Amino acid sequence: MHNLRAFEKFIEVEKRREYKKLILDSCCGTGHSSNKLAQSFDDSLVVGIDQSQARLAKNPSLEGIDNRLLLRANCEDFWRLCQLSGVRFDSHYILYPNPWPKPEHLLRRWHGHPVFPVLSEIASTTVLRSNWKLYLDEFNLAWQHLTGRKFKVETLEVDDAISLFEKKYNQSGQPLYQLVVSA
Ligand SMILES: C[S@@+](CC[C@H](N)C(=O)[O-])C[C@H]1O[C@@H](n2cnc3c(N)ncnc32)[C@H](O)[C@@H]1O
Repeated sequence: MHNLRAFEKFIEVEKRREYKKLILDSCCGTGHSSNKLAQSFDDSLVVGIDQSQARLAKNPSLEGIDNRLLLRANCEDFWRLCQLSGVRFDSHYILYPNPWPKPEHLLRRWHGHPVFPVLSEIASTTVLRSNWKLYLDEFNLAWQHLTGRKFKVETLEVDDAISLFEKKYNQSGQPLYQLVVSA
């Protein structure tokens, strides 16, 4: 039920004014990335969603920024509600999703989850970042099966980390990777 309420809140905010673009930041954690995106795209609405209220509560407040909406929701339900309502984001960020590295957890990775096909319908461009290249390679392969389009996993050079996990991995010297796909 809280997922439906979160979605309704998003629709209410989205209707309040004309935004140039709609940006979704899924699994946003503390929402540092949502704040940064909102600052970079100040004429767009940035929607950050995470299932953890405790993480969202750690979001640093943004003085004078009114184009960032943080919502507690499960991605799978929120994404399906977007699909059912015909909502299409211009950009969709999925930054450092939980890797679920054990083989038996493959179905918990987004490309192994039943909701995966919905991703190609709710955003024009989807951006994934991870410190685990295999996750992005698998996602890329699954995307190719879904859409017939294959993209390239790139190494990411980070000067100014977009999120707390990116900062943590970057500071520990791990290589970081990015995959940008479109439908
Ligand atoms: C590794 S953290 C990354 C957080 C943030 N994107 C970053 O880069 O700092 C993964 C986040 O995904 C959230 N998450 C995991 N599964 C989720 C789901 N099904 N729906 C919504 N959020 C989820 C967790 O609560 C957690 O905050």
